Amino acid sequence: MGRENFGSKLGAVLAAAGSAVGLGNVWRFPIETGQNGGAAFIIIYVLCIIILGLPIMISEFLIGRYTHANTAGAFRIVSNGSPWKWVGRMGVFTGWFILCYYVVVGAWTLHYTYLSVTNAFYGVPAQQYENIFGDFVSSSWMPTLWLFLFIGVIHFVITRGVQSGIEKSAKLMMPTLFVITIFLAVCSIMLPGASKGVEFLLKPDWSKVDSTTILEAMGQAFYSLSLAMGCLCTYASYFEKNTPLAKSAVNVALIDTLIAIMAGFIIFPSIFNIGMDPNEAGVGASLTFVSLPNVFQQALGDGSVLAVVFSAMFYFLLFVAALTSAISLHEVATAYVTEEFNMSRKKGATLVTATILVLGTLCSLSFGPLSGVTLFDRNIFEIFDDFSGRILLPLGGMLISIFAGWVLDRRLYHNEISNQGNLKTPYFRMLVFSLRYIAPLAIGLVFLDQLGAFSFLK
Ligand code: TRP
Repeated sequence: MGRENFGSKLGAVLAAAGSAVGLGNVWRFPIETGQNGGAAFIIIYVLCIIILGLPIMISEFLIGRYTHANTAGAFRIVSNGSPWKWVGRMGVFTGWFILCYYVVVGAWTLHYTYLSVTNAFYGVPAQQYENIFGDFVSSSWMPTLWLFLFIGVIHFVITRGVQSGIEKSAKLMMPTLFVITIFLAVCSIMLPGASKGVEFLLKPDWSKVDSTTILEAMGQAFYSLSLAMGCLCTYASYFEKNTPLAKSAVNVALIDTLIAIMAGFIIFPSIFNIGMDPNEAGVGASLTFVSLPNVFQQALGDGSVLAVVFSAMFYFLLFVAALTSAISLHEVATAYVTEEFNMSRKKGATLVTATILVLGTLCSLSFGPLSGVTLFDRNIFEIFDDFSGRILLPLGGMLISIFAGWVLDRRLYHNEISNQGNLKTPYFRMLVFSLRYIAPLAIGLVFLDQLGAFSFLK
């Protein structure tokens, strides 16, 4: 069976960047930055990316490209029959699990794009936004409809294959995303009072930095870079042999961080413009779907063309960001079933899509008709989110770094990152040191923190 590759290095980087740039960049990074000391947090975050994120990303790239196989197959090959093969299987499971709830939020971005375009926020009083969101997510057919549409788009791209599906869509969507981000950030910065927002985001305040900040920065860095489950490993299995691994990883990290910071420039100037307290704007869903629609109407003129265009573009941006990430998660599972069970790509993708339709719908309905189904007081959506984010991802990250640092043959490692000796690798020792000592320890701490061991710090 012929295996496809990405057609160009640019396409490969854009696809991987598409995986990385997602909801995490827009709805978590900016607010975390603002609350944790602005530029001080950004500096810590960038250090986390350099010291921990890049070594792990390079390792995932390496394992994928070396084996040219899906994540489970890749780990089976590099583990030489040892139990380390389970890391790959766990990765596939984790990705599939994340996808089940990620698509739900992707569907919400579509609904909010639609509401923006139809000027549905015109004249809505500030307190009403919470109800609009609450009524929408708790209804049954509306979110499900958007969910099916969102999953349908993913399915369409995936079935078209690596080059004409994933790569082509990334080449179209990533530049679009970039242009929209810049446009929105420039608009927002031109608002009166914007400087306060910029100050909130960038003014370094080291007094806000403590051990929790560092753990948060690490967790955010991993999530934002799509690490720890083999997403990038799968994409790298479509890299050509001469793709420079370290350079590609640096490019992906740069694009991801740049977009995250620019998302802050979209959000905070407008929040300050209307005199809202950024700490009350919320995080995640409540920031994105309750505070921001109101902020945009008020900052740009209720019902004005500018407000319509701005908010439609903002939710469309979120949609594109979520879509490219969801595609990468879907591909992990599709590559797995296709290759491990010898199916056609179409069949494999359809199977994955079918499971996502079912479980995604359950997650989606858990805000409405199924809200009574809970475990430890968490609804189905939250169970998927918690279990993958708090347990599977940190565990996967730790195992991947230990595997790459201690188990994987060093000569093989060096051979691969230097492209068989063709590239200089002055960072090699540093990389191995991080994989062996720093990364497992640091991720171990994040893990314990996520499990609540350090909650006394908060
Ligand atoms: N990185 C994406 C975001 O920022 C989400 C994502 C896609 C992800 N693939 C992943 C997170 C793999 C962890 C692991 O939203």
